Amino acid sequence: MENTLVLLKPDAVQRKLCGEIISRFERKGLSLVALKLLTLTPAIAASHYEEHLDKPFYPSLVSFITSGPVVAIVLRGPNAIKAVRTMMGPTNPENAPPGTIRGDYATVMSNNIIHGSDSVISAQREIAIYFTEHELVQ
Ligand code: GTP
Ligand code: MG
Repeated sequence: MENTLVLLKPDAVQRKLCGEIISRFERKGLSLVALKLLTLTPAIAASHYEEHLDKPFYPSLVSFITSGPVVAIVLRGPNAIKAVRTMMGPTNPENAPPGTIRGDYATVMSNNIIHGSDSVISAQREIAIYFTEHELVQ
């Protein structure tokens, strides 16, 4: 079993897509282990996206991800990290096939609806940014 961190980004919350997206993960068979609504501070955003600090798009990325509330979710299941990434589709929605979350709900890279951890190490690091141990249900 694996845990993975999902963020429904500010565009998903603003467009009222959270229920639909969470529903997809539930129908897939992944379990909700933790869930909260919060607005990222610049410090949390910097921690979350520390790997992208040197990228040209970093300032706009942090500006976007702090622009409104997000839903942070821990999902659990067999191969949950890969399952979520497959369901999200590619980073750039232009390349995301219909049937994927980004393919169905997004049009541009800067507003791509959802984040999902990309490895076991990333998932452990990212879950700890948003949740304490006792906030994860057993
Ligand atoms: P996340 O789940 O959000 O981490 O997306 P990802 O893992 O599919 O992509 P990555 O970690 O490489 O990039 C993080 C975020 O930065 C993406 O979701 C995009 O919103 C943004 N991003 C990545 N590459 C580019 C780029 O070349 N240009 C712009 N404008 N934004 C980018
Ligand atoms: Mg990423």
